[in-house]
Amino acid sequence: MVEGLSVTFGGVRALDGVDLEVTPGEIVGLVGPNGAGKSTLVNCVGGQLDADAGRVWLDGIRLDGLAPHRRARLGVARTFQRIAVFPELTVREHLFVALRARRPAGTRWSELVDRAQPTAAEADLLEATLERVGLQARADAPVGTLPLGACRLVEIARALVGAPRVLLADEPSSGLDPREAGTLATVVRSVAERDTGVLLIEHDLALVAEVCDRVVVLDVGQVLAQGAFADVMADPRVQRAYLGHVA
Ligand SMILES: Nc1ncnc2c1ncn2[C@@H]1O[C@H](COP(=O)(O)OP(=O)(O)OP(=O)(O)O)[C@@H](O)[C@H]1O
Ligand SMILES: [Mg+2]
Repeated sequence: MVEGLSVTFGGVRALDGVDLEVTPGEIVGLVGPNGAGKSTLVNCVGGQLDADAGRVWLDGIRLDGLAPHRRARLGVARTFQRIAVFPELTVREHLFVALRARRPAGTRWSELVDRAQPTAAEADLLEATLERVGLQARADAPVGTLPLGACRLVEIARALVGAPRVLLADEPSSGLDPREAGTLATVVRSVAERDTGVLLIEHDLALVAEVCDRVVVLDVGQVLAQGAFADVMADPRVQRAYLGHVA
């Protein structure tokens, strides 16, 4: 997915030659201390940020240089560490806008939402997606009235509605209660079962251990270790760099 990715902010090397692969159906955990460069990496894949060097690929297509909406159409979906929702739109409207936004270039905003009604097929997909994340009962609530945990699930649902090739989830469990975190784990697994790759940035190591096939540890912009969760966490360098910060 990324190759030799480097980003510098002023004097800070946020990413320094990072290589990272996420294959279809694989759940990769991306962990590391605060400031390691995890969100910067997601921003480079999503197109919110251009790297200074390196390449971004999806299914053999070069993504770097493309605008975020074009990457989204090619199958990149993401959630944000700081939630990005429209308070006055309902949960279902969020999903509907996301679904229509995948229409070809040139589609007018008014065609996306203004008085637009979902077709029967779209309505079915919206309901199925709401069900996947357990938000059916809150489908008609304006998102601004929902607690943070539900907003995170709205972001995930919005990312899933376009059937992405890869889902980049930036700390999706932050602010979730234990029941919602359980739902999240189930949702992430169901995403991978449909052959979508998942990059899960997560501070909750129990969740990482539970759902991830593989873990990559980032520290000061470099990949410090990668592999199975238990092996990676047993690596003394990881314990020094990462667990040392947490303790
Ligand atoms: N827009 C920016 N301008 C300047 N510096 C930035 C910017 N974004 C990130 N950085 C710096 O780049 C480094 C990596 O930040 P990043 O947000 O990617 O870390 P992270 O691993 O996501 O951390 P956290 O776990 O706290 O979310 C940090 O030193 C951060 O201060
Ligand atoms: Mg971050």
